[in-house]
Amino acid sequence: KRGPVGARFLQTTGVAPAFAFDIDGVLKQGENVLPEAKEALQILTGNNRTSTKFPFICVTNGGGTIELARSQKLTKELGVEVAEHQIVQSHTIFRPLAVKYGDKPVLVVGGLSNRCRLVAEAYGFKHAYIPPTERELQYVKRDVDFSKIEFAAVLVFHDSMDWGRDLQLVLDLVRSEKGVFGTHKDVKDPSLWTAENQLPVYFSNPDMLWGNEWSQPRFGQGALQTSIAAVFKEVTGYNLHRTTGGKPSKATYDYSSSLLFSAIQAAREGHSNIDLHGKTSPTFDGRVYMVGDNPASDIAGANGFGWESILVRTGVFRGKDENDAAHKPTIIQPNVLEGVRWALEREG
Ligand code: G3P
Ligand code: MG
Repeated sequence: KRGPVGARFLQTTGVAPAFAFDIDGVLKQGENVLPEAKEALQILTGNNRTSTKFPFICVTNGGGTIELARSQKLTKELGVEVAEHQIVQSHTIFRPLAVKYGDKPVLVVGGLSNRCRLVAEAYGFKHAYIPPTERELQYVKRDVDFSKIEFAAVLVFHDSMDWGRDLQLVLDLVRSEKGVFGTHKDVKDPSLWTAENQLPVYFSNPDMLWGNEWSQPRFGQGALQTSIAAVFKEVTGYNLHRTTGGKPSKATYDYSSSLLFSAIQAAREGHSNIDLHGKTSPTFDGRVYMVGDNPASDIAGANGFGWESILVRTGVFRGKDENDAAHKPTIIQPNVLEGVRWALEREG
């Protein structure tokens, strides 16, 4: 029978290890919550058997809703409290871009119809548009005449629900003059296609694959990005310049670590007012165990950021052993519960 885990560790170092959980393929498979996830979080939050609470955050390349709504949904699903400051989504680091683009029009791509536009507005984007239909572009004008809109950027907030339409409209804008639908830059003039002269395109994550309830990993936003860049090269001869967030980007891990720092600091000071708006506070300098299913995002990001990495077998990774993982984890475990148990045993 395992005794109260972690207590001895706290007596020696005083800083409990912290945990960062990926969601798809670790805590959930599609809409199914893994039972091991519930038990792992019970252990960490001291709801049973332990006398310590271990700080944790969820860092997902998923998105499509505001962080508060996602955290409330996860609280119900997991049976432990997940506060707004404990969740980082793929597009969370787009929040500061709302200052950069302020009242300039931006095209918001991905997710279910209007939801990502509402997230963009919640972040402070003043003129966020979802891709118009062909009719709205050509014949039927909604409350806006797109021939008069100069888009300043394209932000792919979440996985696309219509790859064909989104690929067409993103490339319509990237090839346009000044970001106006229905125009086209001269492909014969290379100076028009340099990085600084291309319309900025932001992808919220690079996931080629991700794990849900299906028996095989699914293609993610990274596959769409690859398609868009390949078609762009084919029709213009130029490389698509773009910025990609989410795991494994340092921006996502920097933000996650500063969130962890402020959450722990707030807990120590007995309050919960935590700065969510990307003004980076110091990063957390204690030991962090990241539990993930995708070597290319979770393990690569954790390793690159100096966190411990626990690769689980409930999502993308299907290999025999760690040599099959493109990015070598600290350890491979069957699922999140065994991963948490291993980490706490290791911490003493
Ligand atoms: O769209 C979700 C997918 O890209 C991966 O999500 O939670 O495994 O980072 P997650
Ligand atoms: Mg995952």
